[in-house]
Amino acid sequence: MEERIITSSVLEEDIVTEYSLRPQRLSEYIGQKKVKEKLKIFIEAAKKRDEPLDHVLLYGPPGLGKTTLANIIAKEMGGELKITSGPAIERAGDLAAILTNLKDFDVLFIDEIHRLNRAVEEILYPAMEDYALDIVIGKGAAAKSIRIDLPKFTLIGATTRVGLLTSPLRDRFGVMCSMEFYDEKELSEIVIRSSDILDVKIQQEAAYKIAKRSRGTPRIANRLLKRVRDYCEVRGDGIIDDEVVRKASELLEIDDEGFDRIDKKILLAIIDNFNGGPVGIETLAYFIGEETETIEDVYEPYLLQKGFIIRTPRGRIAGDKAFEHFGRKASKSRTSTSMQDNVKQCSIFNSD
Ligand SMILES: Nc1ncnc2c1ncn2[C@@H]1O[C@H](COP(=O)(O)OP(=O)(O)OP(=O)(O)O)[C@@H](O)[C@H]1O
Ligand SMILES: [Mg+2]
Repeated sequence: MEERIITSSVLEEDIVTEYSLRPQRLSEYIGQKKVKEKLKIFIEAAKKRDEPLDHVLLYGPPGLGKTTLANIIAKEMGGELKITSGPAIERAGDLAAILTNLKDFDVLFIDEIHRLNRAVEEILYPAMEDYALDIVIGKGAAAKSIRIDLPKFTLIGATTRVGLLTSPLRDRFGVMCSMEFYDEKELSEIVIRSSDILDVKIQQEAAYKIAKRSRGTPRIANRLLKRVRDYCEVRGDGIIDDEVVRKASELLEIDDEGFDRIDKKILLAIIDNFNGGPVGIETLAYFIGEETETIEDVYEPYLLQKGFIIRTPRGRIAGDKAFEHFGRKASKSRTSTSMQDNVKQCSIFNSD
């Protein structure tokens, strides 16, 4: 996958600043109102009972603040955070070692939890349910199973693909949190908060403009802010305004909607090469030379959420907004009854 400025996945350049830009407390965490409310209640209740928080599953596209939330939960619960990931735990013994080294109220964060292998996952079931580890000693008829008590910990699982979780694992999470894309107001608050931390001056409208180009994702908002700041230091007069954001975005080849070359390639392929769709995801992926999984996990979620792409049983179709954005006319052969309306709407938007 080629490196994009607006990718929601973490890039090398984010690693240093992400740490300092991460909110430390739930009260500092902007947006995700539903998730925050839920967690606040469960954390308070757990603390009152002097029990660990129930296991939490955070799911949603990359860069929306899952790791940040895991950090916050550990802090709020007064425990330590241990971070690992599904693919990093190769053998059941690796996970057993991690679990036995925890203390009461610690938080174990497993990123990409859908990528745990089966043998490892089975260790998790009794650990989550009974705070216990079942170990088999010996082989064949002489084999004996012994049970070891584990500290009372909280497991936080994070995944971008909740559908790939097995149901025994999914069922063992008491708190399920779906992470949503952020709206522009929330993102502009994040941009202003980050500018404060980075000690750069920014005008309100400029923050809003960065927010609008951030595809609903705080990680992208922070990354754009840093790029705009760099531009401002060299070409500007020390304060980030509308004009600086516009020029910096031009330089970065990001348009008003926050789309870059690859988004344009995807949308224009559906519109121009597949007659507006429907086109199967595999065909689309092959056509633009990307992995199907990458399109589904990284590029597509935001385009779907904003209605630029619509998922139908027969494949992806370009939404009205996509036609409008690129000034294209929807073809008459676009099928499905809902498309008939789209065709009418699109012809209004078209100048050519
Ligand atoms: N609610 C928020 N308020 C302020 N900043 C946030 C918020 N959520 C995320 N961020 C910022 O976005 C960056 C990325 O967030 P984080 O690493 O938690 O995302 P993630 O969901 O874990 O991503 P991935 O799926 O790639 O692991 C953080 O460094 C943080 O600065
Ligand atoms: Mg993360």
